[in-house]
Amino acid sequence: MKLNIAVLSGDGIGPEVTTQAIKVLKAIASAFNHDFTFTESMVGAIAIDKLGDPLPESTLKLCKSSDAVLFGAIGDPKYDNDPSAKVRPEQGLLKLRKALELYTNIRPVKAYDSLLNLSPLKKERIENTDICIYRELTGGIYFGEKQVSNNGNTASDVCEYSRTEIERITHLAFKAAKTRNKKVTLVDKANVLESSRLWRKVVTEIANEYPEITLDFLFVDNAAMQLILNPKQFDVILTENMFGDIISDEASVIGGSIGLLASASIGDQYALFEPIHGSFPQATNKGIANPIASILSAAMLLEHFKLFKEGQLIKDAVERSLALNITTPDINDDYKLNTTSDIGDFIEDFINNQDDTNVNILNRHLGQSTII
Ligand code: IPM
Ligand code: MG
Repeated sequence: MKLNIAVLSGDGIGPEVTTQAIKVLKAIASAFNHDFTFTESMVGAIAIDKLGDPLPESTLKLCKSSDAVLFGAIGDPKYDNDPSAKVRPEQGLLKLRKALELYTNIRPVKAYDSLLNLSPLKKERIENTDICIYRELTGGIYFGEKQVSNNGNTASDVCEYSRTEIERITHLAFKAAKTRNKKVTLVDKANVLESSRLWRKVVTEIANEYPEITLDFLFVDNAAMQLILNPKQFDVILTENMFGDIISDEASVIGGSIGLLASASIGDQYALFEPIHGSFPQATNKGIANPIASILSAAMLLEHFKLFKEGQLIKDAVERSLALNITTPDINDDYKLNTTSDIGDFIEDFINNQDDTNVNILNRHLGQSTII
């Protein structure tokens, strides 16, 4: 398959983790005879610094003419600590999501057997957790009207949803549940918010078209608690933009590190793949950033184009790297052992040597053995 991939690696650790994902995609292309091309463009704080715009026109144009976008991370502390900044890196990502109409953000959360002991949550609670969060991505409070009063002492952000916006993601969530454990949980705040009551109404109607799926509802405050108390009760979680943002960071605790969580942002025309973590400026260029979220986002990219064998191979490689403790310091105390690019090298090598079950795999795939 031929794929043109736009690469927007962005700020902080974005470039270093994205480099690993590209390394892995190139290994897949050569192992399976695909033709992937990668074209880079700027986004976020770096684009503000160089071009004065977090989403330059040329970047948007590239994304629109590509088959998929591989995104790194954006954000810079100099903007976080300046509430008066007129332009912010995050606007680049938000504008991009809106311009490409990426209305569904899919965030899988899984407890890996080899990492169960790393989670601050009890092993028995999280073992076998397998959740997929469907977060609405182009509506709600993120995109509603924003106002600041003339004296600057009052501010508001409107949370607005239309039936159509709810319907389109809801169908995708139900279709996903059909291929999984056949349950959808709508997370909302329908006891307080009109917009949440509209979600409940529309989702309940649509559920009639999917009789094999069980639908239940949770208020977001309770959902936040249930995710920690009993994450195994969830299969597909469907929710609006901001609730999805918050509960997906919370859910990352189940997996042991936010550095493991990948995501796909899908619309009717375009698709973008990105780790859910941010730019982690403190870790930039130290070789300690976990590239797994970016690598798993690349696997989601392949699956989006129905390259399921290829996606699975990456996921198998990732599981093997975790089982062998070839991991970065967020999930490994012995952090001198593996750098960001060691992890990418291991996964690349695993793809190139698929039949390798040798016990010496650890050394060989890190290029440390003399055995041929
Ligand atoms: C995410 C991020 C973004 C969001 C930020 C960077 C705008 O937190 O993708 O979860 O809030 O959507
Ligand atoms: Mg977030």
